[in-house]
Amino acid sequence: MDEKNKELYFLEELKYMSERFESGSQEGVKEALRFCQDTFGYVSLAHQKQIAEFLNVDDKIVKTLIKFTKSIKESKTEFEVICCTGPRCAKNGSIEVIKSVKNTLGIDFDETSKDGKIRLSTQNCFKQCSKGPNIMINGKFYHNMDKNKAENLMKEIME
Ligand code: FES
Repeated sequence: MDEKNKELYFLEELKYMSERFESGSQEGVKEALRFCQDTFGYVSLAHQKQIAEFLNVDDKIVKTLIKFTKSIKESKTEFEVICCTGPRCAKNGSIEVIKSVKNTLGIDFDETSKDGKIRLSTQNCFKQCSKGPNIMINGKFYHNMDKNKAENLMKEIME
């Protein structure tokens, strides 16, 4: 199914759900979120708004339900890679590590890989300086990185 048809199919289904569920129903929102995730692979901001509108709930409720449903993603990105660019990590060799991360992924900071799977960004100090250079992937720390470790780690998530 192409994107345009998917959108139409999704809207039809939302309409149907709005008739099946009572106004403001969280069960309805959950079902709509699951349906959206299955159809598009994630629940974009635009789809969140449509769900809130059709099921007559506040946007915040949709957000909260997404937060508590692990299988629902808000973007196609599977891996959020954050490199520390703070001065103490730099002293411990983060410049080489960052170069290795960028070269292996083939993207720069604030860019997403072509397949949409990996997003690269920076943070200026994680307050974990003694264990640096540090990289964080999906909230998990990788300490004492060097260029080879960084390269291997990136290759792992690219697979
Ligand atoms: S400078 Fe990297 S964690 Fe502080």
